[in-house]
Amino acid sequence: MNTTLVQTIKQQFLKKFNQNPLMIFSPGRINIIGEHTDYNDGFVFPAAVNKGIIAAINKTTAETSIVCANDLDDTIMFSVDTIAPMAKESWGNYVLGVIAEIQKLGKTIGNFNMVFGGDIPSGSGMSSSAALENSVVFGLNELFNLALSKAEMILISQKAEHHYVGVNCGIMDQYASMFGIKNHALLLDCRSIEAKPFEINFENYELMLINTNVKHSLSDSAYNDRRSVCESISEMLNIKALRDATESDLQQVKDKVTPENYQKALFVIQENTRAEQASIAMENGDLETLGALIYGSHNGLQHQYKVSCDELDFLVDRTKENKAILGARMMGGGFGGCTINLIAKDAVEDFKTTVSKAYKNEFGKDCSIYSVELSDGTHLIK
Ligand code: GLA
Repeated sequence: MNTTLVQTIKQQFLKKFNQNPLMIFSPGRINIIGEHTDYNDGFVFPAAVNKGIIAAINKTTAETSIVCANDLDDTIMFSVDTIAPMAKESWGNYVLGVIAEIQKLGKTIGNFNMVFGGDIPSGSGMSSSAALENSVVFGLNELFNLALSKAEMILISQKAEHHYVGVNCGIMDQYASMFGIKNHALLLDCRSIEAKPFEINFENYELMLINTNVKHSLSDSAYNDRRSVCESISEMLNIKALRDATESDLQQVKDKVTPENYQKALFVIQENTRAEQASIAMENGDLETLGALIYGSHNGLQHQYKVSCDELDFLVDRTKENKAILGARMMGGGFGGCTINLIAKDAVEDFKTTVSKAYKNEFGKDCSIYSVELSDGTHLIK
């Protein structure tokens, strides 16, 4: 967690509201493998990271709530008694959506003030949105004694995203951000919403992120479209979700769906298997196999599920020329954001230099490279 940012956010709150706030850290996440499987009731393998949202929050007796996005230098004002969605793409929807979902549960909150900022680059596929939603629900739960469990809070965050932001996301991001464990990744079963923590120590290897610094438009509708395809094929197969299907089950409907949609469903079934196999590889300390599964995931995301883009493919291709990298793939929803790379520690510096140059040459812009630490989930900063 960025302690300088904590001080900045706290100072901003004190300056604006002349009152001591509750301070909350809510992390972003990475995902080792298991992409687009969460809304298919499948397996994912995320971890919370030491980058995230820092929020300062407290009650007010005023008629209006004030929420400031410090990084954007933007403020929204509203009353909790009249919550309605803002224009599409407004960051305010992450906040207002959470309030609306809390109220739908019959819980009462009063007005509040909040200042937040973060160090997750937006559009990086590290889920700054789930981090923000979780910080709001966590803060309001504390301030207004709502007695919500963490399990209830992540469902509120997820529904805010569905109903106010308009993305029919799964539960991976909200779960990882809320329930993260320091130095661990979580093999999460998105049907039971139960996770098995795995301590991450790759010895001579580490996970490195490369941000393409691009976010293509239409990614939200492309996301929702893919979710609908998965749901309609599940319906055809008479199952609850693609998690319940095998490749041979899918064969039965092959001539009833387009070849493109068949490939999408096949990807989900295979990706779900890869996530489970990855957990076995990790238990055995078998990084070669883990790396191969990660490459397999990218291949499927690129060619079958079709959620990659030139910049992501370029970064993954560059790793294939380098023996020090065991696996690489795009991470998150797709169409931009980061790749995640399993790389030998002693090769990091050289690779950073080569890949940055090559990327600049190809696209005329910079990529950004981050190493991350795995962190605890959403919590109060003491
Ligand atoms: C986004 C969504 C998640 C998940 C990933 C893809 O991050 O918010 O629920 O579906 O995409 O794995």
